[in-house]
Amino acid sequence: MPPPTRLLQPFKVPIKLLMGPGPSNMREGVRAALNAPLLGHLHTEFTDIMDDVKSGLQYLFQTNNSLTFAVSGTGHAGMECALMNLLERDETLLVVQNGIWGLRVADLAKRLDLQVKVLNAEVGKAASLEEFSQAIDDFKPKVAFVCHGESSTGVMHPLDGFGDVCHKNGTLLLVDTVASIGGAPFHADKLGVDCVYAATQKVLNAPPGLSPISFSEMALNKIKQRKTRVPSFYFDALELGNYWGCFDEPRRYHHTGIISLVYALREALVGIAQEGLNECVARHQQNAKILYSALDEVGLKPFVEDPALRLPCLTTIAVPPNIQPKEVIDHLMAQKIEVSGGLGPTFGKVWRIGTFGINSDRDKILEVILALDEAIKSASGLADKKTAA
Ligand code: GLV
Repeated sequence: MPPPTRLLQPFKVPIKLLMGPGPSNMREGVRAALNAPLLGHLHTEFTDIMDDVKSGLQYLFQTNNSLTFAVSGTGHAGMECALMNLLERDETLLVVQNGIWGLRVADLAKRLDLQVKVLNAEVGKAASLEEFSQAIDDFKPKVAFVCHGESSTGVMHPLDGFGDVCHKNGTLLLVDTVASIGGAPFHADKLGVDCVYAATQKVLNAPPGLSPISFSEMALNKIKQRKTRVPSFYFDALELGNYWGCFDEPRRYHHTGIISLVYALREALVGIAQEGLNECVARHQQNAKILYSALDEVGLKPFVEDPALRLPCLTTIAVPPNIQPKEVIDHLMAQKIEVSGGLGPTFGKVWRIGTFGINSDRDKILEVILALDEAIKSASGLADKKTAA
């Protein structure tokens, strides 16, 4: 068999402004870290880097949890790792569902033979503390799931009081911060979060491939008291915790760590530490306001009506009547600007603009809104022509 001819062509990747829901553009330092020489996954120099990453993640999540590390895999890996470790077959999981990530968690949980109870919130809105509290009383779940940054709808789900409600009932609180961490206020310990996971390709501006995760003492105890083994070796949090040096015991080989991505994550966390987490969140909040007023100037509206529920680092924009969202997206893509369409319940209804990390920047935001406005005008011209014909 001859080698594939395309494979032998020069490798060219265009530079794009990635203002969709992620991956976002990489920051320079991260790119440089990816070029650092490989080390073995148990070399002291590498385990020292893993230790730096662990402490950077504790800072990012605002937690003292010792079981804090990064799962090898994307945000979905963190999601599976959390569910597989925290729950055993037939145990009950309450899912707050207001977008694609609640649906996804419910799907994974059913595959694991968990009992899934759903608290539906309207798309673009959030569940209230009272509704949540009632659902916890009704279902007495072992774990309750909330997505903090619903990237399909652009909702930042409030979490105040959710931890207390859970703990009064012996429930663990599991939170997805894939799209929100670093770009919206989040304090795992203050909020009483028992397990939180995230991803590297959004506010952190690193490539996809690692999922930061953290388990509270209560979560760790539940894992230690399991009657059955975690159904996945790869996602077993006690094995991973050992490899990441989270326990007072020698590290064992578990799997070959994703060396270069761990370098990249370290560098991304350096970026957050240098700017300061609070300052980084505040910048995302300020730039979100710039984005909202730029939208207003061109006659567009955020899909999430309540400003308090808007995720500062990802904005959903309502598609005006008679516009095909895909035409607009294609028009922008031809200019090497990525803006995404809706996902799951928002499919066909919104555009999604990610302003993650280095892309939370006034100039980039204004450039994208200008290009979006032009693309809409061009698409509505097209729509007018189609109507006339
Ligand atoms: C991925 O996170 C997405 O929201 O598309």
